[in-house]
Amino acid sequence: MDGSRWDEAIARMRARIDRTAATVRGGFPHYAEPAAGLWTVTPHGDWTGGYWNGMLWLTAAATGDDRYARLAGEWMERLRPRIDSQTSARGLLFYYGAALGAILTGNSVARELGIAAARSLAAGYNPQAEVIPMGAEFEEVHSVGLGESEVDVVQIAALLGWAARETGEARLREIGARHARRHIEFCLRADGSICQSASFDPATGKMTRRYTHKGISDSSTWARAQAWGILGWALAAHWTGDMTLLEPAERAAHWWNAHVPPDRVAYWDFDDPAIPHTNRDTSATAIAAAGMLKLAELATGEVRRYAFRQAAESAVGALVENFLGKEGGLWQGCYNKRIELATAHELIWGTYYLYESLHVLAGKIDAIKV
Ligand code: GLY
Repeated sequence: MDGSRWDEAIARMRARIDRTAATVRGGFPHYAEPAAGLWTVTPHGDWTGGYWNGMLWLTAAATGDDRYARLAGEWMERLRPRIDSQTSARGLLFYYGAALGAILTGNSVARELGIAAARSLAAGYNPQAEVIPMGAEFEEVHSVGLGESEVDVVQIAALLGWAARETGEARLREIGARHARRHIEFCLRADGSICQSASFDPATGKMTRRYTHKGISDSSTWARAQAWGILGWALAAHWTGDMTLLEPAERAAHWWNAHVPPDRVAYWDFDDPAIPHTNRDTSATAIAAAGMLKLAELATGEVRRYAFRQAAESAVGALVENFLGKEGGLWQGCYNKRIELATAHELIWGTYYLYESLHVLAGKIDAIKV
């Protein structure tokens, strides 16, 4: 696909950002229904509010238009009360919702909020388990607390690694790196596929079970678990400087590329026996593509870097060609098939990662800057 196609897709998505900014009320866009494109919102940001801010920060940086930076700043203030909420998903909320503002636009309030959230997260670190547990207020799944974690939040390491660079507090980087490394044992199978979640004994740190919150079964591969692993370990390697974390990211990416359907867009679970008569999850493909674009910068060896770039490019091309609506929404995301929640919808995080990837492919942003 030539460069102008990426620009055209960015313009489509930006038009939807403008419409959403002008019309959304009552909270952060979470997911949208396909008929009229209306958003279900979350008053306090749930685990996803940061992605909306992230799209505004990216647009501010790419256009130089201060209106987007002002808007992002206003939305970021709504996240301030979440700094100390007891959920490890704050790593996602504040990396995209705040730290990105500091990284991309130099916003000093964004820096302050991002650092505060990183320090608060680090305060919940369990040194026996070498992990920041999900916490009692983790937003969206059934088993939460001090003895649970999931691959979806490996990405916390990015916020901690960034905050360590900003403050010189090496402890934050060390906690981030350990948290990311522990999830290799928790979630990565020997063949490179990923199991979403794990329980551990908070007193000894010993893993007690592997299971899934959102996949079809504990032994299946839920597409978003696979994608979060690729992205989470790639980001963790970059921001903590622990380059051993590239190995799990690459192993997970190889597995993805060997198992994704020929049209490059994953179904919601790789092991759903109903494939192809079941839901896609475009958000999983967008996350995986964003992760592979980072591996295309970080992996050792030109051949490997080139292969990751090619895989990411064909995934993003397939999303744009077949799932990005004329109005700029990324459709056919599957939030939670187990409870039939938003199974063919626009999901704000999928939209964010497609938008980020398009900016990388169009040469407007460096893949490892964000
Ligand atoms: N827990 C994040 C997700 O559902 O992908």
